[in-house]
Amino acid sequence: MALDTKSYALPVARSIEDLRDAVAGWVMKGETVALVPTMGALHAGHLSLVDLARDKADHVVVSIFVNPTQFAPHEDLDAYPRQEAADADALNGKASLIFAPTAQEMYPEGFSTTVSVFGVSEPLEGSFRPTHFAGVATIVSKLLLAALPDIAIFGEKDWQQLMVIRRMVRDLNIPVEILGGPIMREADGLAMSSRNVYLTPEERKIAGELNVILRETARKAAGGTPVSQAVKEGGERILAAGFDTLDYLEIRHAASLAPFEDDRAHGDARILVAAKIGNTRLIDNMPI
Ligand code: PAF
Repeated sequence: MALDTKSYALPVARSIEDLRDAVAGWVMKGETVALVPTMGALHAGHLSLVDLARDKADHVVVSIFVNPTQFAPHEDLDAYPRQEAADADALNGKASLIFAPTAQEMYPEGFSTTVSVFGVSEPLEGSFRPTHFAGVATIVSKLLLAALPDIAIFGEKDWQQLMVIRRMVRDLNIPVEILGGPIMREADGLAMSSRNVYLTPEERKIAGELNVILRETARKAAGGTPVSQAVKEGGERILAAGFDTLDYLEIRHAASLAPFEDDRAHGDARILVAAKIGNTRLIDNMPI
């Protein structure tokens, strides 16, 4: 194969070999590379990660791959928005290269390896999506090993994912620096997400309450309210605001995601939530 230079203004590598050739060309010239892994459907949150990457490295590679192994059979793999041409437009002038492999390229016939991170991947998202983080860890390790970037950047929106990736990179000695980029929010504070397009106008209004309740719950816990009480009250407010299901609302140690044994938030603490409106599952988090 060769780089696809015809489809869009930006070149696209569709194979790992082409990605490696492009990166090797830059590295030979002493230039640095940042990778921003995405599943496409790019919004301002992703683009802020690309801007951060541009500040940190000479070249930015954005990968676009809707990774099947991180979706459970009942989840939205088929419905997940795909818009490669619009994504390529949005990246024009910001990135050097798009890496958009096929599923066959990433998971060829006979693929038999899974990367599992224990501990930090188990609570919260892990208890509701038990196979999710193994899918994420597997594809992210493959992307890192394919691109061998100096830096890779992930959004803090998926806070637990960021902690899982940091742990994996440390445990496997993958020679890359992992950076987190701050959550980008809509005018009412809703965390930007590719899944927000699923919301009806009425659901979208309710969705805007999530960050408000999160912030107020965090403030209570910071002011000394016991964690169990703050999250119980916050959870009740989320359901009263019109959410159909609350998967979790928790205040945890920010890095390990372990609970506070003394029921008080202190040190580096983070509040994390997952709740559903209709079929749409929203997650958010913030520091305490
Ligand atoms: O955060 C995402 O979009 C995905 O989980 C990632 C990191 C690109 C892996 O597929």
